[in-house]
Amino acid sequence: MKSSSEIRSQFLSFFQERQHLIVESAPIIAKDDPTLMFNNSGMAQFKDNFLGIKPPKAPRIADTQKCLRASGKHNDLDDVGHDTYHHTMFEMLGNWSFGDYYKKEAIEWAWDLLHNVFGIPKDDIYVTIFGGDAGDNMPEDIEALEEWKKWVNEDHILRGNKKDNFWEMGDTGPCGPCSELHIDIRTPAEKAAQPGQELVNNDHPQVVEVWNLVFMEFNRKADKSLESLPAKNVDTGMGFERLCMALQGKRSNYDTDVFKPYIDFLEKEYGCKYGRTEEESIAMRVVMDHIRSICFCIADGQVPSNGKAGYVVRRILRRASRYGFQFLGRTEPFLFRLVDVLAAIYADVFPEVMAQKAFIKKVVEEEEKSFLRTLERGTRMFDDYVRDHAGSSEIDGKFAFNLYDRFGFPIDLTKVMAKEKGLTVDEAGYEALLQQQKDSGRTASEVKTGDWVEVQPMNGMPVFTGYESTSGAAAITRYRTLETAKGNVYQIILDQTPFYAESGGQVGDTGVLRSANEIIQVLDTKKENDLIIHFVDQLPENAAAEWDAEVDAERRRLIRANHSATHLLHAALRRVLGTHVEQKGSLVNDQILRFDFSHFQKMSDAEIAEVERIVNSKIAEGIALGERRNVAIAEARTLGAMMLFGEKYGDAVRVITFDPKYSVELCGGVHVQNTAEIRLFKLVSEGSISTGVRRIEAVTSDGAIAYLEQKLATLDSLMGLLRNTQDPAKTLENLIESNRKLEKDLQKLQAAAVGDLKEGLLQKARLVGGINLINEVVEVPSDKELKTLAFDLRKGLTNAVIVLGALFDGKPMLNVVITEDLEQAGKVHAGNLVREIAKEIQGGGGGQSFFASAGGKDASGLGRAVAKAAELLGK
Ligand code: SER
Repeated sequence: MKSSSEIRSQFLSFFQERQHLIVESAPIIAKDDPTLMFNNSGMAQFKDNFLGIKPPKAPRIADTQKCLRASGKHNDLDDVGHDTYHHTMFEMLGNWSFGDYYKKEAIEWAWDLLHNVFGIPKDDIYVTIFGGDAGDNMPEDIEALEEWKKWVNEDHILRGNKKDNFWEMGDTGPCGPCSELHIDIRTPAEKAAQPGQELVNNDHPQVVEVWNLVFMEFNRKADKSLESLPAKNVDTGMGFERLCMALQGKRSNYDTDVFKPYIDFLEKEYGCKYGRTEEESIAMRVVMDHIRSICFCIADGQVPSNGKAGYVVRRILRRASRYGFQFLGRTEPFLFRLVDVLAAIYADVFPEVMAQKAFIKKVVEEEEKSFLRTLERGTRMFDDYVRDHAGSSEIDGKFAFNLYDRFGFPIDLTKVMAKEKGLTVDEAGYEALLQQQKDSGRTASEVKTGDWVEVQPMNGMPVFTGYESTSGAAAITRYRTLETAKGNVYQIILDQTPFYAESGGQVGDTGVLRSANEIIQVLDTKKENDLIIHFVDQLPENAAAEWDAEVDAERRRLIRANHSATHLLHAALRRVLGTHVEQKGSLVNDQILRFDFSHFQKMSDAEIAEVERIVNSKIAEGIALGERRNVAIAEARTLGAMMLFGEKYGDAVRVITFDPKYSVELCGGVHVQNTAEIRLFKLVSEGSISTGVRRIEAVTSDGAIAYLEQKLATLDSLMGLLRNTQDPAKTLENLIESNRKLEKDLQKLQAAAVGDLKEGLLQKARLVGGINLINEVVEVPSDKELKTLAFDLRKGLTNAVIVLGALFDGKPMLNVVITEDLEQAGKVHAGNLVREIAKEIQGGGGGQSFFASAGGKDASGLGRAVAKAAELLGK
């Protein structure tokens, strides 16, 4: 049996032999593409090449791409685990032609590889072609049909509609007719019973699509029309795990060696048994599938969080944890242990997991712990709800939705828990609320992106001139309008620009575009893949005029200082804390620098001081900037440049050095010419942002000086208050100490007063309705003392009810306490009594049978409330 590694290598060599350049998978987390959070297909990294905006690295490329389909247009999350051939994360093997070969070669090679090289029998392969679409005015794909006829019998060629045979990346963008290859891996008896043709594209687990050949020749525009791309391209994607299923003679992806190690681990370590029950098998598949998404996302820089992509990762992790909890009996963290299994499977092809194994494990384990705590809290809420609603046979839809929204309980879990108590769930109510939430999210985030209006041809990618200067002449090449819920957004592209587009944590530049007759404000600059997009306050009236682009240079100066200081900080942290410190995120703007990094403990004061000292000494040294552009990535590696996992580096990179022995990083950002320009570095805060990731915020230059000035001003005013003592810390300590003493004395005095109060109240006890009653409005310092007083009174009494009222900050409060004998006799219930009398203070409350309290809004009713207790008991 061929191993999955052999299958992957064979695919890549096959295309290498046919002059394809083999490239690395892009990170699974999409970078610089506002339409995507995750790479969901092999072609995502080639979008600009298809659109003709950027020349491809080679006319023919092949790779294996880590894909995630758990959000957006392509989302399989809720189904994964229930069948045997869908995944959230999967590898897509792909080959591409950028205006080079077309249908003939793509079809011939796909056939050759599957049938001749991999040996899949001819009869087991079905192909589909695009049958045409009247709406798009597209004919049937005769060319593909003719090519297929050379290899496949006509009864194995099926025609498909636009849904199945016209592939589109999103609502807009590159697209084209496609031809799919499906394989039939059923047993001979099953094949004899029903022809495969009938099962293609019909959700049969053993008649599945393995490969999609897209003939990318159009661009779908915002108005839905199709425009021809500059060239006719090929984009193919083959599901690696499905291919392994077919070639390893298995009936499910999960039976291949890509997944088997997890099954073995779960069976050995946790006594699971794959195939024992349907529920258990589904749960194991969910776990096996999801651990891959989780690991690859974290390895590529996206830890679980509450933010967009981070939240998707968190949801996937929680889904896996919940299936483990519910169906595999895992009440303690266990997913993190599968990280070892995964790292070993991918050690050669995706070494980024192995390299960060300890970090990934820790993050996963902590997330699991926190989710299990949430599950526990939700379960308690559920039990409370059931108790409080005794007598009702249905769980409210709103409550079920709350459990889902706040505690991550999917409806099926709530249903199981309800069933155990003999209850049902108002599913319709739940669904309605879920839909409402989805709808409101959609309207808020819906953006209608207009097509680009071309002013002049782009002639390649816009050039960034901002390393040398902050202003320069430019021509507008295109502009467009985006309609959003918050109003219109206008975007402009220039042929060359000094404006830095947000990336690598550094914010985008702001400034103006100036022509003889117009001034346009640039509010922000961002990247869309490699396009530099200026976000402006209005569209130009005369776009074809001559323009000057001017960056806000003062703002840029502060950004530069913060960015260079970030590099100095990164190096200092690795010196002080160790080389496990890796950058996990950063933000550099004109106000602050924020640096997130992997480290598991809080930094000590001494460590913080040492880091500050090192950075400031590097500033004082006045180290000149070393900047080298277009360094081959291999050379950069030998220079020891720090590279981040999950970052998208080109073949040629920019290397920023501040002393080759101190800091060498790959970076596209703007920097000071000499570290002396940073002037001063001051760390402002250090804390945790998620498991294993800490965040430092710091200020430099003008910001650091302003920060210190403000601190000094605070110190001056404190010194004034402390009468300019020589030793302010000592004076303050004395003050705090004497204050503490005074507080203690006061407490003693208050306790004595409460003691007196207690004696007085005991005197006032009288028989009402055969019960000893004390009902008084009292003065005590806080609700804590009120409760203590009530319980102290209770100690000395039998057959008694104590009702105390008091005002705290003008708000009325009632406490009712009942002695144990009376409680056991069941004659009086404190909770019920307080509810009744609290009406007098316009309040509500409740509690147990022996103690209850209530707050209210109407202080004037306090006397009446207390008196009412006597009335009620006297009845
Ligand atoms: N883009 C196509 C797909 O994702 C082929 O790679 O199916």
